[in-house]
Amino acid sequence: MKGPVVVAVMDGVGIGARDDGDAVHLARTPSLDWLIAEAPFRLLRAHGTAVGLPSDDDMGNSEVGHNALGAGRVFDQGAKLVNAAIESGKLFEGDAWRSAIARVKQTGQPLHFLGLLSDGNVHSHIEHLFALIRRAAQEGVQNVRVHALLDGRDVPETSALTYVEMLEKVLAEIRTSGKDYRVASGGGRMKVTMDRYEADWPMVERGWKHHVRGEGRGFRSLGDAVETLRAETPGVIDQNLPGFVIVGDDGEPVGRIEDGAAVILFNFRGDRAVEISRAFEEATFTKFDRGAKPDVFFAGMMQYDGDLKLPAHFLVPPPEIERTLSEHLAANGVTQLAISETQKFGHVTYFWNGNRSEALAGETWIEVPSDTRPFEERPWMKAAEITDQLIDQLRTGKHRHARLNWANGDMVGHTGVREPAIVAVESVDLQIGRLLPVIKELQGALLITADHGNADEMYERDKKTGAIQRDEHGRPKAKTSHTLNPVPCCLYAPSAPELRFDETMKNAGLANVAATVLHLLGFAAPADYLPSLLTTSE
Ligand code: 3PG
Ligand code: CO
Repeated sequence: MKGPVVVAVMDGVGIGARDDGDAVHLARTPSLDWLIAEAPFRLLRAHGTAVGLPSDDDMGNSEVGHNALGAGRVFDQGAKLVNAAIESGKLFEGDAWRSAIARVKQTGQPLHFLGLLSDGNVHSHIEHLFALIRRAAQEGVQNVRVHALLDGRDVPETSALTYVEMLEKVLAEIRTSGKDYRVASGGGRMKVTMDRYEADWPMVERGWKHHVRGEGRGFRSLGDAVETLRAETPGVIDQNLPGFVIVGDDGEPVGRIEDGAAVILFNFRGDRAVEISRAFEEATFTKFDRGAKPDVFFAGMMQYDGDLKLPAHFLVPPPEIERTLSEHLAANGVTQLAISETQKFGHVTYFWNGNRSEALAGETWIEVPSDTRPFEERPWMKAAEITDQLIDQLRTGKHRHARLNWANGDMVGHTGVREPAIVAVESVDLQIGRLLPVIKELQGALLITADHGNADEMYERDKKTGAIQRDEHGRPKAKTSHTLNPVPCCLYAPSAPELRFDETMKNAGLANVAATVLHLLGFAAPADYLPSLLTTSE
């Protein structure tokens, strides 16, 4: 290929049922339609075992999707590794767990668990939390406090009470043995604590105040907090519930995080765990005024960043993603560009490069700042600005390979609002329309795909029949989470019309993309990479 080889990830754009709940289908997408009809096109698997998740009931997500795209192989991912470490008991034999237990036994301070309370299996799983809580009880830990972030983004949008009930039941059971195990604080995951890529540090600051300092509105229980906040803001969904603390009879917070305590962040996925981990770990911290840093033993479920070694202590070793596509290209002197807006910036850099936050030799990383307004109010997001800069960069001739992420289908898909999701997909299509002539002019290749589905299902469906679910008024129930659908994969390479996808390859997935990029750049892929999607015969 004479010109650049570009991979465009349309985040959250899957191929779904092509009906009334499918914003990808409802959107007017002339460029994508043309590519699907006229250029090499196929579907790729982007969920479950194809991306290293425990089962094919697990929807895909950006972490595992971009890991697979950038690594060219399928690695067992956090969800699966934590399951195995709990089952084998290895987790509880590790230094991090033993140190946490030893610390609280010595000081009498509580063992605090902080994380996302759901079974979404994207950032966390509630069963992992329960296994940790039960084991702490078995090991004689007297006090446990849970800081529960409410989901509604990887699970149905108002499902929080299901998980609250499950948690309260486990805690109540343990209290019968005379132990003091309680919930201490919480809040919606898009309002407190779980920011990513430094898009909105005040979110983390709010979480810190609730969890650590015990500041914020007080409620007597987690269930009470959820119900009261919902009643006060009709229509609010779990991910957007404001933060709060749980107070005792005396009106005092029941679980500030204080010197001598141990804190376990039980999320296994890194992007939204890095900032709060930094607040707990960094000796000098400038992102907000955290007050006196409590002297605690802090551990993550995993190590979230392999370059920064963050956090220092972790319960389960992360997947060892090595010899990535980027490393291979860097070692061969190939220049690379990675570009996206803040919300997905780490997806094409950190996740793509196997959860590493430092650029390699010959890599240029460009971040376009995201809006902080709700994305349903700005469904075009920064797709045009990303494309502006991409086109300028490609025309410099400096980059042999470029990758980008258009965040729209996913970020607007997560709001659960169908009309803006349609605009989101149309916004991406407009950018494809701008990019195609540039690829032609530069005699390059453009591979367009997605990391997982989302906007392709804006309504909840019955798991068995696939029928759209409705509320008591007959209105479709909004869906905020990802989907199990395959994703499109189109190739536009007008200077190489002989290129075709290998139609005999049936079960290809995202991990086949890396070898395809190498193929287009004229390199043989390492032997253990999944094969290129292209035929070698003409
Ligand atoms: C999020 O973190 O926003 C969701 O849990 C998953 O979305 P992503 O995998 O597309 O980032
Ligand atoms: Co998403």
